[in-house]
Order: sequence, then C-alpha cells, then structure tokens
Amino acid sequence: MQKILVINSKGGCGKTTMATNLASYFATQDLSTALLDFDPQGSSIRWLNQRPKSGSSIYGVHVASSKNNTGVTRAFQMRVPPETERMIIDAPAGITGNELIDLIRHVDTIIVPVLPSSIDIHAVTRFIQELLLVGKARQKGLNIAVVANRAKKNTLTYRALERFLKTLKLPFVTTLRDTQNYVHAAERGIGIHEMWDKRTEADKAQWRPLTRWLDDVNQANTKHKIAR
Ligand SMILES: Nc1ncnc2c1ncn2[C@@H]1O[C@H](COP(=O)(O)OP(=O)(O)OP(=O)(O)O)[C@@H](O)[C@H]1O
Ligand SMILES: [Mg+2]
Repeated sequence: MQKILVINSKGGCGKTTMATNLASYFATQDLSTALLDFDPQGSSIRWLNQRPKSGSSIYGVHVASSKNNTGVTRAFQMRVPPETERMIIDAPAGITGNELIDLIRHVDTIIVPVLPSSIDIHAVTRFIQELLLVGKARQKGLNIAVVANRAKKNTLTYRALERFLKTLKLPFVTTLRDTQNYVHAAERGIGIHEMWDKRTEADKAQWRPLTRWLDDVNQANTKHKIAR
C-alpha cells in the first residue's frame, strides 16, 4: 500500500484539493483507495459525501472526529480495509512538532502544495526545514515532492515561487494552474480526472508529472521491500 500525506502547515494552500483529486485519480485507475481526513473541518469527508453513486468508490475516514486514548495514528492504520492500495491523508493546517512526527510515522510519501505568494513561500521554507530537521524525513527514507498550486503563469509571484522551489533539494514535480475546474469538481465530489469537459485537459496534463512521480517512488519502494 502506498501511503501519501498531503501536508503544509500553511492554511488554504490546496491540501484538500490535492488529496481529493488524488483519491479520485487513483479510484478511476481501479486502485482500491482510502481517503483519511485528519482535519476537524472535515472538508475531504464532505467532498466524499457529495460523491455521485456512479463514481468509483473511495473508502473515507474522518480521523479527526474519532480521536481516542490509544493515539490517533495507531488507530487509523487499523481502519483502512486490508485490500487498500493507495491511502491518502488530508492534513489540517498548523501541524508541527510532535504532531508532525506522529503523522509522518506511518506514511512513505509526502506532497507539499505551495501557493505563489511571499507569505506562503516564507511559511513553506520553515515547514520544509521542520519536516527535514524535526521530522527527519530524509533519514526515514520518505519521498517528498513539492507542487506549486493556483499558479498564474507569467506573474511575478509565480516566477518567484518557481525560482524558490528550484533551489530546494526536493523534487518540484508540477505546477497546477488556478482554475474554477477545481472549485466545480469540489462541489460535485469528483476530481478533474472525472470531468470530460475539454477545459480540463490542460489540468490533467499538469497532473501527469505528479502521478508519474508517485508511480515511480511506489515502484522503487516495492522493490526495496522485496530486496530487504
Ligand atoms: N488550483 C486551484 N485553482 C482554483 N482554486 C483552487 C485551487 N486549489 C485550491 N483552490 C481553492 O482554494 C481554496 C483552498 O483550497 P483547499 O481547501 O484545498 O486548501 P487547504 O490547504 O486544504 O485549506 P485548509 O488549510 O483550510 O485545510 C478552496 O476554495 C479551493 O477550491
Ligand atoms: Mg483542507
């Protein structure tokens, strides 16, 4: 099972948008998919509840609403069906310190969405430092990728973000444009991979480098496990 965490301590950068679109993508690939919402706001679970009956099924858990004394992360592992092939966690904003360590303990892959703004660039710099220094993400062999979200190409702020992301020693895998397609998809409980409108083709193309990267790291992880 590939376990993917979508996280950034900054609010509103697109964590839920990416987590729900990823879940929808995997489900349409006929992979058994679980979506775990760690946010008390429950946006991912609300999305799942809007999902049309005809859509590929996704197993959902609102972990934030079911904390117990045994610890959140231990409990969530137990709750996904054993046949799950892709598990996606939608993290709330503001996760740092021990909570961060606890959350990354059970995943193999991390996606960090970032918005093009100086405030977001500043916040993500700190967050990535924490992920690497406090979370010891590299030592744990976690795969981390950064995604620029809500990009308006040819703007100065986007160019500043692009320049910044290229300086990181982490893969900057793709850029998602700012489009109402994500807003419409969110309202309907689907992802852009389930929309057939010609206007979503550019978005699907922007997802391809990310889904390819996820596939590559998953294959490498599987080989590593077999070799061990
Ligand atoms: N690429 C995009 N184009 C247009 N709108 C977007 C895009 N990505 C996200 N949004 C919109 O931005 C808002 C915030 O996105 P989202 O809820 O995914 O962020 P979040 O990081 O999960 O926020 P929170 O920290 O509150 O959980 C939502 O209204 C969403 O529809
Ligand atoms: Mg969210």
